[in-house]
Amino acid sequence: MKELKILIILIVFTLITYIGIEPFAHSEMNPHVAPANFNYEREDIDLANVRIEEARAALKKAENALMKNATDENLQKAVESAKVEVEVRQNDLSAYQELWAQVNEIAALEGDAENGAGLIAACTSCHGLKSQEFEAPFDDALASESYGIAIPDLSLAGAVYDKKFLIALITNPARALKVHKKFNDENPLPMTQFFGFGDDVNQETADIVAYLESIAPQEISGKEVFETACLRCHDIKYDALYATTEKGALKNYMGSNPPDLSIMIRSRGAEYLENFINDPQKKLDGTAMPRVGLTKNYTDKSVSYLEQIGDSKKDERVTVGIGMIIFFVLMTFFAYMWKEGVWRELH
Ligand code: HEC
Ligand code: HEC
Repeated sequence: MKELKILIILIVFTLITYIGIEPFAHSEMNPHVAPANFNYEREDIDLANVRIEEARAALKKAENALMKNATDENLQKAVESAKVEVEVRQNDLSAYQELWAQVNEIAALEGDAENGAGLIAACTSCHGLKSQEFEAPFDDALASESYGIAIPDLSLAGAVYDKKFLIALITNPARALKVHKKFNDENPLPMTQFFGFGDDVNQETADIVAYLESIAPQEISGKEVFETACLRCHDIKYDALYATTEKGALKNYMGSNPPDLSIMIRSRGAEYLENFINDPQKKLDGTAMPRVGLTKNYTDKSVSYLEQIGDSKKDERVTVGIGMIIFFVLMTFFAYMWKEGVWRELH
């Protein structure tokens, strides 16, 4: 049976392409990232250690180069700046250790949501809290003008953000968002640290977080997560969503224009997006995008939303694919019958 052999060869090659070559090519073409880690404390400490090692290796390389050519001024400068880099990275590690030690103390406290309701004024002086009928004190245009960036509503914050991330954010916003290099004492981040109302600041922070958790709804869609956590910077034109920060201000604030995310899922894939959103700095050291601090559940939801917008034809494609397979099986069958008929008459 010659036909059967041909069919088997065809099937084997199709399977090799589909199971072997295609996934391999896909993984080669897509950027690799370390897997997402939703333990933000471990993430920060581990990454700080990796950066120290990298800086030390760079220093060693610079020193070796200088040894071969001790009078070269450029090489001397390179060694000096490599030394500074090691120090900066070491300070980074200590700063993170200090922050997370405090966060853990706060997280161990029992938060009092009722007390937190009274303290939330510390946040609603800038943020809206629509579900509790606190209108944002600034509209997006005014916030863009005076702060450089629109200020997100906090109605969903108690659910979508990781609890310890939220505590870290309130305690040290620039460091929690990982934008402390760009925003420092000379150029402060517009979101200010919470210094407390005079009682124990750790307890007050725990109370604010408990309050935000107590008012957050149970069911939040991927689109709502996007609106809370991403929309102040990113457009999704396919869903008629436009960044709430004014474009000019945004470019100024970020140093670059955040891309429209409508079809990002197609060029990057879901896995890359989850890892990137979890910790942008890990993949792109020094990227302008801050860490967002979503929980795993809501990271996944936001990625599903991007998938639904950017790849809305996926389900359709699968259905059409199955139809096509059935069509070709039938065609093969009829072609075979037809061929048999023709040959029978000839013999
Ligand atoms: C002085 C104004 C100001 C105050 C006060 C303030 N914030 Fe913010 N907050 C901002 C701005 C501006 C941003 C956007 C920063 C950015 O994207 O760089 C922000 C961002 C956030 C975000 C989003 C962070 C993320 O991961 O995307 C959360 C959550 C938040 N603030 C919570 C709070 C809480 C809780 C308080 C009260 C303890 C508070 N903020 C007090 C101005 C403020
Ligand atoms: C405060 C502004 C800001 C927020 C909030 C923000 N981003 Fe970004 N994002 C940026 C900027 C700026 C870039 C461009 C980064 C660069 O070029 O270094 C970016 C880049 C990206 C990219 C492209 C990555 C790549 O490999 O090219 C993705 C995907 C992304 N953001 C997703 C998100 C998602 C999802 C959220 C919400 C969960 C979000 N961002 C929240 C500012 C932001």
